[in-house]
Amino acid sequence: MKVQVIDLKKQNMKIWEELSPRIEGLFQESRFILGKEVEEFERNFASYCGTKFAVAVNSGTSALLLSLLAHGVGKGDEVITVPFTFIATVEAIVFSGAKPVFVDIDAKTMTIDVGKIEQAITPRTKAIIPVHLYGEVCDMNPLREIAGKYNLSLIEDACQAHGAEYLPRAKKAGSMGDCGCFSFYPSKNLSAWGEGGMVTTDDEEIAEKVKMLRDHGSGKKYYHKMIGLNCRMETLQGLVLNCKLKYLDEWNERRRAIARQYTEAFQNIDAICLPFSPSYSRGVYHLYVIRTSERDELKNFLQEKGVGTGLHYPLPLHLQDSLRYLGYQEGAFPVSERTAREIISLPLYPEMEEVEVKYVIDSIKEFFR
Ligand SMILES: Cc1ncc(COP(=O)(O)O)c(C=O)c1O
Repeated sequence: MKVQVIDLKKQNMKIWEELSPRIEGLFQESRFILGKEVEEFERNFASYCGTKFAVAVNSGTSALLLSLLAHGVGKGDEVITVPFTFIATVEAIVFSGAKPVFVDIDAKTMTIDVGKIEQAITPRTKAIIPVHLYGEVCDMNPLREIAGKYNLSLIEDACQAHGAEYLPRAKKAGSMGDCGCFSFYPSKNLSAWGEGGMVTTDDEEIAEKVKMLRDHGSGKKYYHKMIGLNCRMETLQGLVLNCKLKYLDEWNERRRAIARQYTEAFQNIDAICLPFSPSYSRGVYHLYVIRTSERDELKNFLQEKGVGTGLHYPLPLHLQDSLRYLGYQEGAFPVSERTAREIISLPLYPEMEEVEVKYVIDSIKEFFR
């Protein structure tokens, strides 16, 4: 048997009938950039997240960069985030002109260690980017308190957390900071047929700035108020995402059900550290990530068994060649470093069949027997 870490085709086959006439319509109309489908998706996604505005862009990376620029972050500023995230979080900071400043993750949640943030704040700190990694939300109440106390912008990296909830506020990821940034990369819980991203916010001025920044700094064609970029969403992606949004809760629920099966099956295996879902978070299992000191051996074993796995992420960002210039040494963020050595992501996507889930479970049990 072969179990892929993710299978996108199954989901697309399911919605093809619903989508194909609309794609035909789009072809007839031939308005390929932005378009009414994108506007419709913006309205629906804002309503889904519980924010006043949502501005569609062409990737999660763009969402992060434009959010920083819209908040006036630039040269001479510092932005706090974690070294244990996908590199795009930090690339956005670097391209804004600011300096990334890292704070280690918490060993249990694998998200930012809120207790370590204040010691990283300097007079140059302008923003904090908490990352809702693997689909579990960060502890937003204390984060909001710190951001308020030091007058910092709070930009949520919700690229892996579509629909995740922060229970103390009964709010969704992307609706609790000054803005939220989403990716619709094909492997995400809500995914495009290509690249896509979104900035969510309650702040009209920020929404307007992001709108301008995504379209060469212009509100009116060929009149440019600021220097921007081309970060517009394609009409096709708006159409696909709008269709898929209706199923997001159902798909997230299926992810949770598979995660529950994994957790139940592995809870008595001492060599496995299971994913931890904090009491304040209702996660969406973008990834199901276990930790074990025998990670590489397990990965090879599963590969031989036909089970695909992933490593999210094998090298913390402060040790990446591209970020050496920041001057961090090995040992600077021990929790991130250890986590990177031990993590392994198991196959998990809503269309996974029961026999596939069982096969993954049996294969892992066989390895640890
Ligand atoms: C945590 C995180 N931040 C940012 C991004 C960047 O999103 P994109 O690939 O759409 O640019 C991703 C997606 O890969 C991500 O997982």
